Amino acid sequence: MRQTLAFDVYGTLIDTQGIAATLEGWIGERAPVLARAWREKQLEYTFRRGLMGAYADFDACTEQAFQYCCEALGIVLESEQKAELLRRYRELPAFADAGPALDGLRADGHRLFAFSNGTAETVSGLLRNAGLEDRFEDLVSVDEIGCFKPDPRVYRHFLQRANVLPQQAWLVSGNAFDVIGAQAAGINTAWLDRAGEGLFDPWGGKPTATIGGLDELAGALH
Ligand code: LAC
Repeated sequence: MRQTLAFDVYGTLIDTQGIAATLEGWIGERAPVLARAWREKQLEYTFRRGLMGAYADFDACTEQAFQYCCEALGIVLESEQKAELLRRYRELPAFADAGPALDGLRADGHRLFAFSNGTAETVSGLLRNAGLEDRFEDLVSVDEIGCFKPDPRVYRHFLQRANVLPQQAWLVSGNAFDVIGAQAAGINTAWLDRAGEGLFDPWGGKPTATIGGLDELAGALH
């Protein structure tokens, strides 16, 4: 049956750890540590801003998290290096399975949406650079309503934008907090467990499906 699929972007289609390759030339083996801390802090800032009702867009959260992590880890970079890094964050690589999986799902007749915390401008640039942009019917950004995942309003906003009922929609995400948020809105969920660790928050529910790669998604929708 034709389904409406909402793809999370950062961490699902796009590899946020890809920034470590740029960092490596500058800070050596500390690159993956900074890349991971940066991603965690970025998400923490979205959660905290959500709780405070003090929205600032995802680019601002990304930049402020970067500043914080450099200071916390004692990493000193030139201002040109910082600017370069933030520019490259807009050109992160796609996971290798993203393009082929999206092509297959489109050929199967499913409706594909990008659904992200990122602003429409940043995410469309990111997807364009990764060669994925034309796979989607549309891009839905939380920026349109000024709050972040997993606020229930963002999932309702997606359903409204895609004009679909929750039971006909799927969220596909590598972020467990996103999966749990979508489930609470009655949406089917495919949790992308790339690490294969099965480490899911013990909040009682389980994803509708768990997949180890995007190539497994088409099978999981049946
Ligand atoms: C996104 C973040 C949550 O793309 O990864 O929405």
